[in-house]
Amino acid sequence: MHFRRIHKFKCVQLMTTGLVLCMVMVSWEDLDHHVVSHMRSYTYRYLVNSYDFLNLSFNIASKHHHGQDGSDSVDWRLGRYPYLLNHPGKCKGDGNGWEDVLLLLFVKTSPENFEQRQGIRETWGNESFLLSELRANVKVVFALGMHPDIKQRSRVQIALQQEDRAYRDLIQQNFADTFHNLTAKLILQFHWCHEYCPQARFLMSADDDIFIHMPNLVKYLRQLMSSQSGARHLWVGHVHRGSPPNRRKDSKYFVPYDLYPWPSYPDYTAGAGYVVSGDVAAKIYHATLMLKSSIYIDDVYMGICANVMGVSPKEHVHISGEGKAPYHPCIYDNMITSHGHATDVRSLWQATIDATVYRRGFKGNLYCTAVRAMLLCLPYYQTTYPCMAAFT
Ligand SMILES: *[C@@H]1O[C@H](CO)[C@@H](O)[C@H](O)[C@H]1NC(C)=O
Ligand SMILES: *[C@@H]1O[C@H](CO)[C@@H](O)[C@H](O)[C@H]1NC(C)=O
Ligand SMILES: *[C@@H]1O[C@H](CO)[C@@H](O)[C@H](O)[C@H]1NC(C)=O
Repeated sequence: MHFRRIHKFKCVQLMTTGLVLCMVMVSWEDLDHHVVSHMRSYTYRYLVNSYDFLNLSFNIASKHHHGQDGSDSVDWRLGRYPYLLNHPGKCKGDGNGWEDVLLLLFVKTSPENFEQRQGIRETWGNESFLLSELRANVKVVFALGMHPDIKQRSRVQIALQQEDRAYRDLIQQNFADTFHNLTAKLILQFHWCHEYCPQARFLMSADDDIFIHMPNLVKYLRQLMSSQSGARHLWVGHVHRGSPPNRRKDSKYFVPYDLYPWPSYPDYTAGAGYVVSGDVAAKIYHATLMLKSSIYIDDVYMGICANVMGVSPKEHVHISGEGKAPYHPCIYDNMITSHGHATDVRSLWQATIDATVYRRGFKGNLYCTAVRAMLLCLPYYQTTYPCMAAFT
C-alpha cells in the first residue's frame, strides 16, 4: 500500500516534470526564433541598410513584381474608394481661399467607437478651444471605413450620418473597416490631405485611443517652424528601427514571405501617433500612387513609401509608441502623446491644462526631474518614454 502510493506520486512528478520541460522547450524555440530573427534584422538594418529592393518590388510600373501577379491589378487601386461622408470645405475659409492651417490632425477610428470620438471632441480635439486658447488653427477629422458586418452596417451608418450632422468631422470611405484594411485608411488620409488641405503646415495621424497634449504639441510645431531648417522634410514619432517581419501565423502582425521576403522592414514610426511636415505629406501621397499597397500593416506601408521617397523618421522622446504615460503632473510638463486611453482622457485633459498654468521654480524643477527619473528610468513593468526623457 505504502509502496504503491510512492509509486503513484513519482509517476505524477515525472509527468509534471515532462510537461514543464515540454513547455520550456516550446517557448525556448519561440524565444530562440525571436532572438535569431531580431539579430538578422538588426544586422541587416545596421550593416547593409539598403532598401533599394522596395521600389523595385513594390513599384507598380516595375517589371520586378514580387508575389502573385493576379492581385496586382486590384490592389493599386486601394485608396480610390468613394467617400460616404466628406467635408471638402474643412480647410477653406469663409471665402474660397485656403485657410492657414497649422495642423491637420487625422484620428483613425472605427464606426462603433462613438465614445472615443466624443471624448476627443470634448478634450484635446476641441478645435474652438485650440483656436481661442492657443491661437492655433488645427483641423481635427476622423478617418473611418464602413462597419465590417453587413447585417449591422445600415443601422451603424444611420447613426454615423446623425453624428456627422452634429459635428461635421467624419471622413468615411466605402471600404470595410478591418485590421487588414488599415492601409486603405492610411491612403485615405494622405489623399484627403492632398486634395482638401494641401496647405496644412503639418499632418498628424493618430489612433483614437491616444491622448495628445495639444499645448505641448503646438509649442513644438511652432518651434520647428521658427527653426532654421523650417518645417520641412520632417517625420517624427516613436521610431522602430530594423524591425523583423513577424512570421508567426497566430500573430495579428503576421506577414508571409510572399508578401515581404526580406529580413527587416525599413524604419517607421509607431502608428499610434506621428507627425509629418506638409512637404513630406505630399511625397507620401505621390508614393501611394506609385507603390502597391499589398502590405496591410499601415505603419510598415508608410515606412516603405517614405523610404522610396528618401524620407527617414526622427525619434521624439515624448511621443509614445504603445505605452501609456504615468499619471503625474511632472510627466505632463513635456508629454506629447500617450497611448491606451479611453474615458480617462477627460480627467487627464483637465489635469494637463491645470498643470500648464502652473509655473515651478528651480526647486520645483529639480523635484520634477527626480520624479520623472523614478517613473521612467527604473525598470518598471511598462515604459512609455525612454529614460532620457526625464532630463529634457
Ligand atoms: C522606382 O522605380 C520606378 C520604376 O521602376 C522608376 O521609374 C523610379 O525612378 C524609381 N524611383 C526611385 C526613387 O528609385
Ligand atoms: C470646446 O471649447 C470651447 C471653448 O473653450 C467650449 O465653449 C466648448 O464647450 C467646447 N466643446 C466641447 C464639445 O466640449
Ligand atoms: C477591405 O475593404 C474592401 C471593400 O469593402 C473589402 O472588399 C475587403 O474584403 C476588405 N479587406 C479586408 C481584408 O477586410
